[in-house]
Amino acid sequence: MAQNIENNLFARLSELIQKKIGLFFPKERWHDLERGVRAAALELGFEDTTSCIQGLLGSPVTKVQLDTLVAHLTVGETFFLRDESHFNALQHQILPGLFEKCLKKGQAPRFWSAACCTGEEPYTIAMIIDRMKPFWTQKDYSILATDINSRFLEKARKGIYTNWSLRNAPNWMVEKYFTVHGNNRFEVEKGLQKSIRFTNLNLVDPVYPSAVTHTEQVNVVFCRNVLMYFNQTLRETVIERLSWALADDGWLFVGPSEAAFVNHPNLGHTRYPGAIIFQKQAAKNKVQGADLDNSSWAAPLPASQEKPRSSLPTWRPMPRPETSPVTKAVRPAETRDRSMELCSTDQMLEKALELVESGKYNEATECLLDLISRADTRAGMTPDSRAMALLARTYANMGKLEEARKWGGKAVEADKLNPGHRYLLATVYEELGDAVKAADLLQASLFLDSRFVLAHFTLGNTVKKQGKSNDARRHFKNALSLLLDLDTDAVIPHSGGMTAGRLTEIVRSMILGD
Ligand SMILES: C[S@@+](CC[C@H](N)C(=O)[O-])C[C@H]1O[C@@H](n2cnc3c(N)ncnc32)[C@H](O)[C@@H]1O
Repeated sequence: MAQNIENNLFARLSELIQKKIGLFFPKERWHDLERGVRAAALELGFEDTTSCIQGLLGSPVTKVQLDTLVAHLTVGETFFLRDESHFNALQHQILPGLFEKCLKKGQAPRFWSAACCTGEEPYTIAMIIDRMKPFWTQKDYSILATDINSRFLEKARKGIYTNWSLRNAPNWMVEKYFTVHGNNRFEVEKGLQKSIRFTNLNLVDPVYPSAVTHTEQVNVVFCRNVLMYFNQTLRETVIERLSWALADDGWLFVGPSEAAFVNHPNLGHTRYPGAIIFQKQAAKNKVQGADLDNSSWAAPLPASQEKPRSSLPTWRPMPRPETSPVTKAVRPAETRDRSMELCSTDQMLEKALELVESGKYNEATECLLDLISRADTRAGMTPDSRAMALLARTYANMGKLEEARKWGGKAVEADKLNPGHRYLLATVYEELGDAVKAADLLQASLFLDSRFVLAHFTLGNTVKKQGKSNDARRHFKNALSLLLDLDTDAVIPHSGGMTAGRLTEIVRSMILGD
């Protein structure tokens, strides 16, 4: 009987953990779960494991409880140059072409280590890039390093390691990139520390790809040795989101034992000595798959049986005031026609949005251009600014920033009082590297809506990059004070599904990291 109750508690706890953290604890692994919860119970002040589990199941889990569970349940095994063949592929197969392409486009290559643990992986990436300097002198690439475990991230930011983390590090790495501090303490070179942005991101949360989390249009994603802890459905969801986060032709690395999990139609795999790596094929599909004949390419692995419905965080059209509910009173014919037109415009917008959300950007742009041109042809009718803004957003997702700027500008022109359109255009300018223009648009957006949380936050980031730390702090504090008025589960407008609780954490870390 007591055993039954205990089994029931563990079954419910593992379900809760899977939902919140993603980690999958089937019955065979309940001893690991028990060990972790026992340690968390002590820290959280519960008398024993059972009362801790009951406490966690009995009321909504607090952030402190969740962080403590994460700290005791996640596996922190990692080291510098882990799976060396991956870094050989990065250095020889990927970086030369990527640098050249980005240089031509005037873009800074973007790298993301998506379960970075204590930092050894993103620092290794930074070292490999630094070694390429003879070929690539432009310094301004960006490396984002995220993990769910805040304690791991704290250690990563300090950049101090022991011999154990350097067990696979070759001499060139130790000599060039570490300073030895006393016995068995190795500090990563300061310049490299500055090149990486460490931040908390839970791969379960639908917060990527998004400009807010800096996870859009990434050229190279490392998501290694974490999918193995998730169940099949979550793995597929994470892989799908990562495929959206990748720029066209972008590369995905997963752990050597995880390659079989990647069955996504947009991700082709290529073999490199000792490594299987994946590349987004969107651009190749556009040219009728011509390059797919290339012998180093193989078709995607067999498609998975069940594909989870995607819930891509993305922009939604703002509700428009003029579409007030249709009244039953008889209206003049002209008004009726207009209302039907509005209805079909809304339906088309909904359809376009669905296409964007399922990553069908080409179809979405066709649908939106059709919608816009229809309105254009009627005398006196201006096209719907929401369609233009969604078109801008779609082009931005496709990496076509000039088109995104054009349509974002038209949306602003068509609805000058819409703060959301200005915000969207600001994010495009930000991507284009024009921080001054982005800051102007964000200011204007805040002028129209001073409670626009995301505009405060983004403006904070923009001015921070310009070296204006005090201004940045002020904007982050404004964002924080607005966020504290919201329910932690409230979804932030224009964020593509991010909750107030999550953004609060990010803003706090920006203020603390100042
Ligand atoms: C074994 S380490 C892998 C580190 C590194 N990627 C490597 O391959 O050496 C797994 C990491 O995944 C992180 N992790 C587990 N669940 C996660 C989640 N839901 N979101 C983000 N990171 C997660 C853990 O905190 C841990 O740092």
